[in-house]
Amino acid sequence: MEREKILVTSALPYANGPIHLGHLSGAYLPADIYVRYHRLKGTDIIYICGSDEHGVPITITADKEGVSPKVIIDRFHEMNKKAFEKFGMSFDIYSRTSIPLHHETAQEFFKCFYDQGLLTEKKTWQFYDPKVKKFLPDRYVEGTCPKCGYEEARSDECENCGAIYEPTELINPKSKITGETPELRETSHWYFPLGKFQPRLEKYIDEMSAKYGWKENVLQYCRSWFKEGLRDRAVTRDLDWGVKVPLENAEGKVLYVWFEAVLGYISATKKLSLEKGEPELWRKYWQDEKTKYVAFIGKDNIVFHTIIFPAMLMGWNDVNEDKFILPQNVPANEFLNFEGKKFSKSRGWGIDVIDFLEKFPPDPLRYTLGSNLPETKDTDFYLKEFQAKNNNELADILGNFVNRTFTFVHKHFEGKVPESGELNEMDKQMLETIESFPAKVGGLIEKYKIRDAVNEMMNLARAGNKYFNDSAPWLSVKNDKAKAGTTLNICLQTIFTLAEIFEPVIPFTSKKIFNMLNAEPVGWDEAGKPQLEAGHKLNKAEILFTKIDDKVIDDLFKELGHTEEEANVALVDDEEFSKVELKVAKIVEAEKIKKSEKLLKLQLDLGNEKRQVVAGIAKTYSPEDLPGKRIVIVANLKPAKLFGVESQGMILAAETEDGKLEIVEVSEKVPLGTRVK
Ligand code: 2FM
Ligand code: ZN
Repeated sequence: MEREKILVTSALPYANGPIHLGHLSGAYLPADIYVRYHRLKGTDIIYICGSDEHGVPITITADKEGVSPKVIIDRFHEMNKKAFEKFGMSFDIYSRTSIPLHHETAQEFFKCFYDQGLLTEKKTWQFYDPKVKKFLPDRYVEGTCPKCGYEEARSDECENCGAIYEPTELINPKSKITGETPELRETSHWYFPLGKFQPRLEKYIDEMSAKYGWKENVLQYCRSWFKEGLRDRAVTRDLDWGVKVPLENAEGKVLYVWFEAVLGYISATKKLSLEKGEPELWRKYWQDEKTKYVAFIGKDNIVFHTIIFPAMLMGWNDVNEDKFILPQNVPANEFLNFEGKKFSKSRGWGIDVIDFLEKFPPDPLRYTLGSNLPETKDTDFYLKEFQAKNNNELADILGNFVNRTFTFVHKHFEGKVPESGELNEMDKQMLETIESFPAKVGGLIEKYKIRDAVNEMMNLARAGNKYFNDSAPWLSVKNDKAKAGTTLNICLQTIFTLAEIFEPVIPFTSKKIFNMLNAEPVGWDEAGKPQLEAGHKLNKAEILFTKIDDKVIDDLFKELGHTEEEANVALVDDEEFSKVELKVAKIVEAEKIKKSEKLLKLQLDLGNEKRQVVAGIAKTYSPEDLPGKRIVIVANLKPAKLFGVESQGMILAAETEDGKLEIVEVSEKVPLGTRVK
């Protein structure tokens, strides 16, 4: 039977900053798990990635630092490559888009479209900053999104709602270089007719999604673009950093970064082929209909991979003999937040991969991220949860099972795999359980339910511990050593299966376990069957996971410059805030509450209603200080009883440095009962 052929790509990260944990969860870890699984299955698979080294994000960083873009890309390409390696990413190549081979590939596509008359040159209005005498493409301008009103939208795409539009549609534009309102100047650009491809794109996505089950979030994005109607897109920019437009009279113009970045997948595969000494190898993955192409990305990249890139490939295929395959699936993930808030470089929120891996080994991070991937909705990374996953799952369940088994076998069976004798019901059941796992976990991975797959893996370690406990070999070893031997034989077989099926998630640990077992992986489909012969000599046990102390986590919070409490304050949006009803009230009466040092009972006037509220301000205010004060209360709290006294609201107060409370007061200008917004 011919081996299945798969081409996998992960979005090429911009080489303009270090990658953080959020990036890993979006487009990298899930792809790596998918690829490692397929390698164990024996699939003919290649995994392509690299740095995206053009575009405005990079020139902006370079401008800020006063260096050339080359300095920036060299720095971050190396840094990110290293971070990925440390994290255990198993790319076949981590290329870059600044290499000549990439420029040639991108220019070839442009020429192909140009020569067949697909591109139209149009005069257009473009933002221009007269102070620095520069056109301002893309992120050089920020303003309000014409679709959703988001105020930090880029000039041609909105990070918030995913809309793409012409720069002239942006509301209240500002130059990122000088902060001034830019002027519009005429320039000309080449446009790619996306609209022309719409019927074919719709058909392509309908067919692929029906056949291969695309994710609902991806389909919804696509449908909303189709509903709006695809428009011509400018594929050139007025910039001097990028792939030069391969035409006469195109000085000062480069290809739009997205138009060439997606082709970076192809140029990277070509480079890999050259490195392997088989220059034509790339065609086997890109131009063979039997190959399946899966593109892993984060949700902000959907349109480029499901619409723009496929349209470009169709445009090429229309006039060339050597035709490219289109993505068979684009399993885009949502975002990962850090401690309840969006990762933000500018606000210093989050942690970079390279820094994290200075402190902790990669496998606990891979496991924590893997078991909580944002596959269907945004998820959060909490340091405390990372600690708990490491301590309570990796160490206490998986590590413990491996450790107790090895300790027992070394102590009672001279470190050799014991004979498996007669099987009781429990033994048979455990063997069946082991056998069922590779197919169960593999099925989930193939459906891109990678988070479920990771969580399922740990269930085998749980089953192993339960089997060990229920079989109680520490008792049987005293009077029925053969029975204890059978138990331990099955435990070791379980560990073998665990080492194999956990490999995609925790490859470093898997390697250690195989080393302890003195064995090699046998391939996914074989991994559920007993593999260890009786008498096989085992190696010494190694420590697989080290527990993480509270102090380490607390110190990390401090180092990051925030406390856990601060981190846990959830962000509220307008809608949530508007649910809280704040109203102006006047204190009419105040009295102490018996047996309480802190509480006062207040009678309030809200204009057309009276309320009784209990407030914890007795240490700062005497009852006689209060009548007449005009304050603000939360008026729609559920009533509560404090010391048996009913409270119908809460007053707003702030704590001063010496621990006293200061009531928020309002002037007489505001009538009682007024809603505070
Ligand atoms: O969002 C990003 O970081 C882009 N550099 C992704 C590009 S993916 C592909 F087009 F290369
Ligand atoms: Zn928007």
